Amino acid sequence: MDRIVVLTGAGVSAESGLGTFRDKDGLWTKYDLAEVATPEGFAADPAKVHAFYNARRKNALEAEVNAAHEALARLEAAGALIVTQNVDNLHERAGAKGVIHMHGELMRVLCAACGATWDAPREMAVGEACPNCDGGPTRPDIVWFGEIPYHMERIVDALEACELFVAIGTSGEVYPAAGFVEEARRAGAQTLEINLEATGGRFDRRILGPASAVVPQWVDEVLGA
Ligand code: OAD
Repeated sequence: MDRIVVLTGAGVSAESGLGTFRDKDGLWTKYDLAEVATPEGFAADPAKVHAFYNARRKNALEAEVNAAHEALARLEAAGALIVTQNVDNLHERAGAKGVIHMHGELMRVLCAACGATWDAPREMAVGEACPNCDGGPTRPDIVWFGEIPYHMERIVDALEACELFVAIGTSGEVYPAAGFVEEARRAGAQTLEINLEATGGRFDRRILGPASAVVPQWVDEVLGA
């Protein structure tokens, strides 16, 4: 079980009411990614970027975990590693303890000057000083486009050692996460995709359906329940 690496994406939280990015009505059909999810966008209009993430934090705080988050917490307790691209905290609220947030966390603040991080208030605003260095700007602790995802060394080590790699609810459009399936294959792992529909990735097996229904079934299968 400790040789299973699970990568999750927005599809895992879709049935909790959080929007995905690239589906019909997804966030990137309503917002300009360059304006709200890049360092350049933040430098140009920090108030707009704070408003975007304040709204997403509010949605995440109001959302309920779904059966997919709960099943994955059971799988983690049995030894699997969860790597998520999601910035919500629903895996943790379902009981998972060691989730790797490669794209950062909505519920944390990052000081762009000194790199300190701390718990986010419900609403962030422009001009708040860092409690560590008194500088700033302070920003949501989100990895934006053009920035390097967190914990890559740990993730690559886990992929190289894994026997089964599972991608759940992710379109496979954003690197480096989109390349994990190939890294796992090179390491000799079996690969499984769980999604509403097949993506373009090369997987050995696919389970298609809504995450809240098919993830618990698959976890029961793995745990022999
Ligand atoms: P996407 O919006 O690109 O893809 C969501 C995937 O979830 C699609 O493949 C859908 O088919 C699938 N899906 C939707 N509803 C589902 C459900 N109920 N059950 C199962 N699958 C479902 O989201 P991500 O792949 O997570 O990065 O996007 C990756 C990154 O792009 C995000 O972390 C974010 C975004 O820009 C940053 O903000 C840095």
